[in-house]
Amino acid sequence: MIFSIIHDFENGFSNGILAAASQKKYSIVSLSRLTNKRILLGVTGGIAAYKAAEIIRRLQDAQAEVRVVMTRSATEFITPLTLQALSGNPVHLDLLDTDAEAAMGHIELAKWADVVLIAPASANFIARLANGHANDLLTTLCLATIASIAVAPAMNQAMWLNKQTQENCKKLQERKTGIFGPGSGTQACGDVGPGRMLEPLELVKLTANIFPNGLLDGIRLLITAGPTREAIDPVRYISNHSSGKMGFALAKAGVDAGAKTTLIAGPVELPTPARVERIDIVSAEQMHDASLELSAHCDIFIASAAVADYRPVAAAQQKIKKNSESQLIELVRNPDILADVAAQTSRPFCVGFAAETQDVIHYAQDKLQRKKLDMIIANDVSATDIGFNAEDNAVTVIWPDGQEAIEKTSKHQLAKLLIKKIALCYQNANS
Ligand code: C5P
Repeated sequence: MIFSIIHDFENGFSNGILAAASQKKYSIVSLSRLTNKRILLGVTGGIAAYKAAEIIRRLQDAQAEVRVVMTRSATEFITPLTLQALSGNPVHLDLLDTDAEAAMGHIELAKWADVVLIAPASANFIARLANGHANDLLTTLCLATIASIAVAPAMNQAMWLNKQTQENCKKLQERKTGIFGPGSGTQACGDVGPGRMLEPLELVKLTANIFPNGLLDGIRLLITAGPTREAIDPVRYISNHSSGKMGFALAKAGVDAGAKTTLIAGPVELPTPARVERIDIVSAEQMHDASLELSAHCDIFIASAAVADYRPVAAAQQKIKKNSESQLIELVRNPDILADVAAQTSRPFCVGFAAETQDVIHYAQDKLQRKKLDMIIANDVSATDIGFNAEDNAVTVIWPDGQEAIEKTSKHQLAKLLIKKIALCYQNANS
C-alpha cells in the first residue's frame, strides 16, 4: 500500500521514492530555480483550497509567474477573485468560456506552463486525471500539456487509503506525474491519519526541485543593446549600424540560465525574447538614465549597446532647411553609461564590449582598467563577416587576471558561452 509518496526531484521525475506518511524527505533545494518559471496552479475542491493563496505568494516570492485554473467545486472553498488578485492574472474556470478562451485559450495555457501543480488535488480529480478524462478545463489542460505535472493530494484519510485512490496514484506515478505528499495529522473532519495537503512552502520547494540548476538562478541581469539615436532635428538623427542581435541573444541566454533579465534596448526591429523585461529607449541620455536607475537593483550589468559617443548640443525644434551650402552641427560628448554604472560605490559586476578595428586586445585591456570593469569582450569589427550587423561574432574575453578567445560562431551560440563565462567569473568574484 502506498501510504504517502514523496518525490525526490533532484533528477527530474525519474527518482520517485515511496516513503512513510510522516517522513519528510526533500533534497536541499534553492527556490531561485523558480526564477522566471511559469507555474500553472490547478486548484480543486477541498478545504485545503484556501492554502492556494499562500502557494501563489510563495511561488511569486521565488520570482515564478503564476496562472491559476480552478475547478467549479474549488470556487465553493475560495473565490476566483482572491486568486486572481494574488496571481495578477485572470483565473481560468471553464473550458467553454469564450471570453477566457479569447484572452488565453486552453491549449495556449497548456503550452505556456513549465509545470502544472495541482494543489489541493481531490480524490475525484486524481481519479479523473489517472483515467485520462477531459471533462473540465483542468483535466483537459493536463492532457494537452507537455509540461511536468505534480499533484498534492488532500482528502480524508479513509479516502486516501482507499484502494482505488492508491491505484490511481500508482498509475499517475508510472506516468511520471509527481505526487507531493500527502502529510499526516489531524484533518478538518476530525479524523487523524494521512491525507493532509503538504504545507505551501514544502510544495513550492518540491516544485523548484523539478527544475535543473541554472548557472544564474535568481541573479538579476541588466543588459543594454542596440544603437542609440541622437536627434539633430525632428526628422534627422546620428546613429550607427548596431543591430542589437548580440545583446538580445545575451538576454535570451541569461533567461535560459535562470537570471531575471531586463533589456534596455535602443531602436531595433527585434522581437523581445520570452520572459525578458524590455525597456525601449532612443537616445544615449535615456539609456544612461534607465541604466543608472536599474543598475541599483541588478547583480550583473552587461553593456552591449553601441552608444553614440556624441550628440548635437541641442536638437533643432523645426526641420533644418537646406538653405546653405554647408551646415555645422556642434556635438557634445554623451555620458559613458558603463563607466558611470561601474563608478558607483555599490555596483553590479560590470561587463563591457570593446569593438575595435586595430590593436583589439590592447585597447580592450586599456578600457577594462579605465572603466574599472570586471570583464570586457573584445571584438574586431574591421572584418565584415563578424560583429556589427552580422549573424556571427568572434571575440576575446578579458578579465583582470586572464583572457580566453572564442572562435567565430553564431551570436546565439556565443551568447551562451559568454553567459557561462560571466556566471563563473561572477561566482568567483562573490565567493
Ligand atoms: O569607449 P567605448 O565606446 O569603446 O566602450 C565600449 C563599451 O562601453 C561598450 O560596452 C559600450 O556599451 C559601453 N559604452 C557605454 N556608454 C557610452 C559608450 C560606450 O556604456 N557612452
